[in-house]
Amino acid sequence: MNVLHICANPRPVEESASKQLATAFFGKLLETNPDVTLNNVDLYEQPPPYLSLEAYNRLTKPFVQPGYQPTAKEEKAAAYAFAQGELLKQADVLVLTLPLWGGSAPAILKAWLDQVAMPGIAFEPSPEGPKPLHQLRKVILLVSSGDVYKEGDPRDGLMPMINGLFGYIGVTDIEVAWADGQDPVMHGDSADRKQMAVEAAQELAEDISSEP
Ligand SMILES: Cc1cc2nc3c(=O)[nH]c(=O)nc-3n(C[C@H](O)[C@H](O)[C@H](O)COP(=O)(O)O)c2cc1C
Repeated sequence: MNVLHICANPRPVEESASKQLATAFFGKLLETNPDVTLNNVDLYEQPPPYLSLEAYNRLTKPFVQPGYQPTAKEEKAAAYAFAQGELLKQADVLVLTLPLWGGSAPAILKAWLDQVAMPGIAFEPSPEGPKPLHQLRKVILLVSSGDVYKEGDPRDGLMPMINGLFGYIGVTDIEVAWADGQDPVMHGDSADRKQMAVEAAQELAEDISSEP
């Protein structure tokens, strides 16, 4: 099984609830499934550019403009998308580790998604709709928030974006371990909440190890 881990959190693991979920998840995954091939991408070490006009042209024009030849600038601008797209195409499972910022994903993760959720990378446009160019069967989110709410709450802006984006490219199996209430000043039970999410993350790791 090939697992791609995208981490969108600049904080050290000892201070970050979402990174502690990732530690628990991958600890359990590698313990129960030693054959896992794991690709780790720390977005703060390999920051995605914002999708530029040149990258946009390079990725979309092959599908809409017969005879399109990219310029050297367009080719260069799309290099990050193609490199990350290769990692995505090899993955059976994608794991996203992130804090909730502004009710949704940190901008750096949205920038990564904008790079890879593109034609020629994640899907091929067709009259029947987007045809997946990947083999992803599952997306797992390891999330931490300061307030007490998680996926399914009307205040959550993360999951509608994630469900919409991955649904578009044909992935509907999306699981979440979410440590909410992680503001320790406002929520005296933040450690208990984190522990529950750690256990949920470990269960998700066990689940994917037992799936065919
Ligand atoms: C820029 C910023 C925006 C935030 N926005 C929210 C938010 O909309 N909702 C929320 O519950 N917590 C919000 N928080 C709090 C974080 O989600 C919370 O501290 C979380 O535990 C951070 O995860 P980490 O411990 O893995 O870094 C925000 C924090 C920052 C720095």
